[in-house]
Amino acid sequence: MNQTIEKLVSLCKRRGIIFQSSEIYGGFGAVYDYGPLGIELKNNISQLWWKEMTQVHENIVGLDSAILMHPKIWEASGHVNAFHDPLVDCKQCNSRYRADEFGDDYDSIEWDTIKCPKCGTTGKMTEPRQFNLMFKTHVGPVEDSGAVTYLRPETAQGIYVNYQLVQGAMRMKIPFGIAQIGKAFRNEIVARNFIFRTREFEQMEMQYFVKPGTDDEFMKEWKEKRFRFYPNKLGVDESKIRFHEHGKTELAHYAKEAWDIEYEFPFGWSEIEGIHNRTDFDLSQHETFSGKKLQYFDQQENSRFLPYIIETSAGLNRMLLTVLSDAFWEDTENNRIVLKLHPRIAPVKAVICPLIKKEGLPEKARTIVDGLKPHFKVLYDQQGSIGKRYYRQDEAGTPFGITVDHQSMEDDSVTIRDRDTQEQTRISSDQILNFIRDKMD
Ligand code: GAP
Repeated sequence: MNQTIEKLVSLCKRRGIIFQSSEIYGGFGAVYDYGPLGIELKNNISQLWWKEMTQVHENIVGLDSAILMHPKIWEASGHVNAFHDPLVDCKQCNSRYRADEFGDDYDSIEWDTIKCPKCGTTGKMTEPRQFNLMFKTHVGPVEDSGAVTYLRPETAQGIYVNYQLVQGAMRMKIPFGIAQIGKAFRNEIVARNFIFRTREFEQMEMQYFVKPGTDDEFMKEWKEKRFRFYPNKLGVDESKIRFHEHGKTELAHYAKEAWDIEYEFPFGWSEIEGIHNRTDFDLSQHETFSGKKLQYFDQQENSRFLPYIIETSAGLNRMLLTVLSDAFWEDTENNRIVLKLHPRIAPVKAVICPLIKKEGLPEKARTIVDGLKPHFKVLYDQQGSIGKRYYRQDEAGTPFGITVDHQSMEDDSVTIRDRDTQEQTRISSDQILNFIRDKMD
């Protein structure tokens, strides 16, 4: 594992952000649990996305469809036949790889000349075999083929099969969007790089229904909007994000055009979000498989058509890894590790510390906590030296450290310490709320 990622993994464990799933049983491959600070951070990120979609855009509404769906949906979507990854094994050491790790043109590779990256043996690699990434499960008590279905590998299909119900109920007019956040599952062949590629993850997907012919224009609009989200809302360093356009061989079976937003992770540039022009592929497949007409009726033009769909599809966990990688800072000068998270997404906004545990300072600090906690998450800490208390919170990404000292008892002021610069300023305690709110905006 990359060294920076290793340090991040250990920080995440130490500070209760992310844990390996089932750790007391030796762990469970490529599945992770989110600890107390991890869930706060994840919620802050997903709420930003949700607000951006369903509040800022009046023509986008939300949905929460089920993970289990009718099995025919996955035949219609193409996932039963086409959602495969090519897999190769080293017969010497049993290591398993995605064939495309050795090159996009893996079909023309002579596998008996390939060296195993793990054990170094040449000539022991198998030919690629196609491996379906969907998790199969059985519905009902009898494990016969009639009861087989799948855990959804993308949330998108739940939107397509509900699109007419949503459009009718909310009287949506094209162009309009439906947004959804939810779990998705993929039986990934190789899972590495921490939470980058896992078998259970969350997607934040928005499907934008447009009139055919206007799709290119909306594709451009959504590409730009989604790109800006990273620096503007999450505070991610703009020089570390870029677009990558899918070439013909990379395009998914449903896409006419696809762009990835990539981030420069410690292990290299990798995808965090995809923006796809899915045309009317999905809706026309569902028309065929369900036998139901899914056309949209345009009242003004008195015409019917199958909408085209522009999809924005982001992984919540990858977005979280993006902000963690971006925020991770080894401040060697001061011998500390800092998560420079934007105050808007930081799990805890401030730690409130009485300088000493007596003379009424703890009570005063508690009063400040009580005043702030209805507005955002804050912590009270009186354990250890003030320096240690601050450093603990630097690692947790808490942007502000508020100290109640003797002067506070006289003039109701406090010191407020900036996590990144470590500068302290003195403000009146009734200004704390506005001070932090300003920084969150
Ligand atoms: N509905 C389109 C779709 O699912 P995708 O490119 O396969 O497209 C979209 O996935 C996003 O979901 C990716 O950009 C990534 O952020 C996230 N994602 C996909 N597979 C993942 C995995 N195994 N672990 C974590 N995130 C994943």
